[in-house]
Amino acid sequence: MNPVDLYRGEIFYLTDSPLDKETFYTYIADGALVVSEGHILESGPYSGMWQKYPQAFLHDYSGMIIMPGMIDAHIHFPQLNIVGMYGKKLLDWLNNYTFPSEKDFNDSAYSDYMAEQFVNTLFRNGTTACVAYATVHPHTAESLFRVASRYNMAMLAGKVLMDTNAPDYLLDTNVCKSKDGIEESRRLICKWHKRGRNRYAITPRFAVTSTPHQLAEAGKLHQEFPDTFIQTHLSENRSEIDTVRSLFPKSKDYLDIYERSGLVSERTIFGHCVYLSDDERKRIAEAKAIVAHCPVSNSFLGSGLMNLEQMNRANIQTVFATDVAGGNTFSMLKVMGEAYKVQLLQNYSLSVGETLYRATLGTALSLGLEKEMGSFVPGSFADFIVIAPEAVPELALRGAYLSEKEEWNIENKLFGLMASGDDRCIQATYIAGNKVYTNNSCLNR
Ligand code: GUN
Ligand code: ZN
Repeated sequence: MNPVDLYRGEIFYLTDSPLDKETFYTYIADGALVVSEGHILESGPYSGMWQKYPQAFLHDYSGMIIMPGMIDAHIHFPQLNIVGMYGKKLLDWLNNYTFPSEKDFNDSAYSDYMAEQFVNTLFRNGTTACVAYATVHPHTAESLFRVASRYNMAMLAGKVLMDTNAPDYLLDTNVCKSKDGIEESRRLICKWHKRGRNRYAITPRFAVTSTPHQLAEAGKLHQEFPDTFIQTHLSENRSEIDTVRSLFPKSKDYLDIYERSGLVSERTIFGHCVYLSDDERKRIAEAKAIVAHCPVSNSFLGSGLMNLEQMNRANIQTVFATDVAGGNTFSMLKVMGEAYKVQLLQNYSLSVGETLYRATLGTALSLGLEKEMGSFVPGSFADFIVIAPEAVPELALRGAYLSEKEEWNIENKLFGLMASGDDRCIQATYIAGNKVYTNNSCLNR
C-alpha cells in the first residue's frame, strides 16, 4: 500500500435515502477517490484532488465507475457449492440438498478451504461485506472470521443453531463438543465479536429447527451481549409457515415466536418476509428490525413475491441479499435486477437510487455501520469496487446506442448494470484499501 493512493474514475455513492431526500447521491464524472492507510481521505473532482495530492500513486480507472462495495445482508457460506440445484421448493430443497451438503463441513480443513473460496467469490462479484450463516459446526464460523480477518473484511456471521427437526448429524446436541449450541455461540462471541471487523450474529436457523427452549436461550444470549446481531428466517414459503403453525399452535403468528423469545430487536435481520400480515409489519417497524429481501432466492425456490412497497409504507428498513444458495447467484447486481422485476410484477417501479441504497448505504445504516462502510464518507474503510458499465457485449451495444442519443448518463449506466450485468463487469474489488480481486482484463491499474 502506498502512503496515498488516488483512484481516478466516475465516482458514485449514496449520501441519503432516496425515499427521504431529493438529493441523495454524489456523482463526479471525472472524479478521484483518495485513500490512505486503508481509509478514505476524501473524494472530489480529479483535477482538484491531483493538485492537492501530487505525490499520490495514481490508479487510472477512467471510463469506469468507482463506487462503494456492495453488502450482502443474508447469505449461507456452506451453500456455495449447491448453487443451482434442480426442482425443489424450500423444505424439500433443505432436506434433499442443503442439509446433506452442510454435513461435509464437519471437517474443519474442508471448512477452511471453502471459506477462502467463499470470500473470493464475494470479491469477484463486488461484495465487500456480508451477513452470513455458517453451519451448526462451531469451527465453520471460525473459518469465516479467520479468512475475513486476513483480508480485513467486515464479516457478520454466526454458527447456526438447530436442536430439532433436522438430521441427527446436524443437531447441536450431536455436533457440539459441549452438546449445547448456545454455549458454543457464547464461546464464539467471546473469541470473535468485534475482533477486527468481525461481528457475531446469533443465528437460530428458523423456528422449525429450534426448540422453544433453544430460541429462548438464544434471546437470553443476545441480552447478555446486546451489541451482537441476530439473524434468522421469517415467512419465506407457505409450507414453512404451515409447519411453523403446527409446531407452535399457541403463537398468534410467526413473528410472535421470535418476539416471545427476545429475538426481535433493531439488530435482528429477518431473511425473506414474503408473507407478513399488516400487524407483523407494524411490529417489525416498531422494533426497528431489518428485513433482508432476497428476490433471486424467492424466484428460484418458487417462494413468492415480497412486496417492497408495503415494507416502505410500514417504514421497515429493507436491505437486499442473495440468500445463496436459495439464490442461485453471488451477484448483488443480479439481485438488484431481480428486485426490479419482482417489484414491477407488483406494479412498483423500483428506482435505481433505491435499489443501490438497499445494497450499500441503506444496509450500512440499518446495521449501524455507516461510519465504516456503504459510502465514501471520509474516515470510512476503503471498501470499494470498480465497475465497467460496458463489459458485457450487449451492454456495450446499449452504451453506444444511448451515447448517440446523448443519454449515456450515470443512471442509465447503473440501470444497465443491474438489468444485464454480472461479475464480468466487476473490474476490481478493494477491501480496506487493498486490492483483493482484479478482473483479467484490468490487470495493470
Ligand atoms: N430457511 C431455513 N434454512 C434456510 C436456508 O438455508 N435457506 C433458505 N432460503 N431458507 C431457509
Ligand atoms: Zn437464507
